[in-house]
Amino acid sequence: FAEGPLKGRHAIVTSGPTHEPIDPVRYIANRSSGAQGTAMAAALRDLGARVTFVTGPAEVPPPAGVDVVRVKTAQEMREAVEKANAADAPADVAVFAAAVADWHVTNASGSKMKKDGSGKVPALEFGENPDILAGVAQMTEGRPGLVIGFAAETDDVVANATAKRERKGCDWIVANDVSADTGIMGGAENAIVLIEENVAEVWPRMSKQEVARLLAARIAETVGAR
Ligand code: C5P
Repeated sequence: FAEGPLKGRHAIVTSGPTHEPIDPVRYIANRSSGAQGTAMAAALRDLGARVTFVTGPAEVPPPAGVDVVRVKTAQEMREAVEKANAADAPADVAVFAAAVADWHVTNASGSKMKKDGSGKVPALEFGENPDILAGVAQMTEGRPGLVIGFAAETDDVVANATAKRERKGCDWIVANDVSADTGIMGGAENAIVLIEENVAEVWPRMSKQEVARLLAARIAETVGAR
């Protein structure tokens, strides 16, 4: 591990989209590239942390020098996070940057669905996925020291993200405006508002690497000061 203020600390980072199967060859996904989560993992590694990187099928490759756990579905992501956050040694920080699907298909087919020529279309049914961030943030025992969520919003970013922070029970929310005209989702840059207990800090637009570097430095200040 690198020398740095997070040496000896354990960080868990979730990243990327999840894929929720419809049948063996089809799935429901979203446009997350995994860029911000990957940059977060690399930045925490650079400050000396041991990083468990739990990633869905992302476009960008995982960083070197972290423990990579590859998952597909939200359910698998939750299990991987639970396993990484050992009961006797909770993580020092957990960063939930993944764009987890809200729903999975409950009537997914074990074999490839086929058109039968009648014009009949499949009726998918959905069930809610576990909220991984809320589950970890609300742990009464073995909770990571600092729990950070992301909030991709298109309107009223600060108000919605502040409410989300309360609802999920996390310490910080990193909010960003993912309206189509911002080019942020899938893009190289991010413009965030960092929401802590009583403050909303508006950061200027910068690269996702720079956002990650500054967030990691803030994490090191907070975790190091405990
Ligand atoms: O509720 P919403 O999806 O906007 O919340 C986003 C935050 O919650 C992100 O940090 C995301 O990684 C996390 N999340 C999660 N599990 C879910 C849904 C969201 O960990 N099922």
